[in-house]
Amino acid sequence: MTYREICESFKKVNIENARGEAELLISEIMGEFSEDRDYQDERLCDAVRRRCEGYPLQYIIGKWWFARCELEVSEECLVPRPDTESIVEEAVKLLPRNARFADLCTGSGCIAISIADLRADTSGVAVELYPRTLELAKRNAERNKVADRLEFIEGDVLLGDALGEERFSAIISNPPYIRSDVIDTLSREVRHEPRVALDGGADGLIFYRAIVEKYQQNLTDDGYFIFEIGYDQAEEIKEIAEENGFLCQVKKDLGGNDRVAVLRRK
Ligand SMILES: C[S@@+](CC[C@H](N)C(=O)[O-])C[C@H]1O[C@@H](n2cnc3c(N)ncnc32)[C@H](O)[C@@H]1O
Repeated sequence: MTYREICESFKKVNIENARGEAELLISEIMGEFSEDRDYQDERLCDAVRRRCEGYPLQYIIGKWWFARCELEVSEECLVPRPDTESIVEEAVKLLPRNARFADLCTGSGCIAISIADLRADTSGVAVELYPRTLELAKRNAERNKVADRLEFIEGDVLLGDALGEERFSAIISNPPYIRSDVIDTLSREVRHEPRVALDGGADGLIFYRAIVEKYQQNLTDDGYFIFEIGYDQAEEIKEIAEENGFLCQVKKDLGGNDRVAVLRRK
């Protein structure tokens, strides 16, 4: 199987970045890349077939890149998205020196790990409901040499007691925020990701409501909630902030969509 043949197969099934994906798949599976070589390898053929069936590239190669970190990814976690780097940037800017932060719904750990990586003076706590996902996040922290500054806690964020009594300079979260009725309309790649990582309930907002209501006592007086939000959720987040006595600033991602909400007490 040649690079060209793989590109053709990917284009036929409308994979947007066919060339980039073909190159990455060959490099990762064969450990080298040549445009001309005819790779006769069962693992590569199998990977191309699975990718053409809509299985995410990131799960096939078992890793992905986020900010400055390389992370293990699998079906246990959402694939870290470039848009999510916007909340990391915001946190890195806002956290005071030697700050403690919390990352709720940590998944692969991408947010907590990149903040710890970019701000060596900070330390934090990362919470996740699913033990296998939490184990993956811990491995990612070790892989990126920040495990000594992060604590991983298994817990249900919705119950409101995941952070105990501690107060943090920022509580950061990219929670599940897709409306339940929208999930089945998403791309076939996204439908291979854990539904529990996507489903934000009937209106997509259950996690934001629960986090703002139940964890405000875990913020320092001048602390921040920093959330990733859906492109169409800015007004609803502002309402939740208002109802709880917080000011809300919404920022855009690189694509120009509303993506980050920063909440601060009035
Ligand atoms: C949208 S994903 C975000 C993962 C990661 N923070 C990121 O940005 O890629 C949400 C994560 O929340 C976890 N989760 C779902 N329900 C939860 C709950 N009740 N308590 C804690 N974590 C939960 C899911 O397993 C998933 O890992």
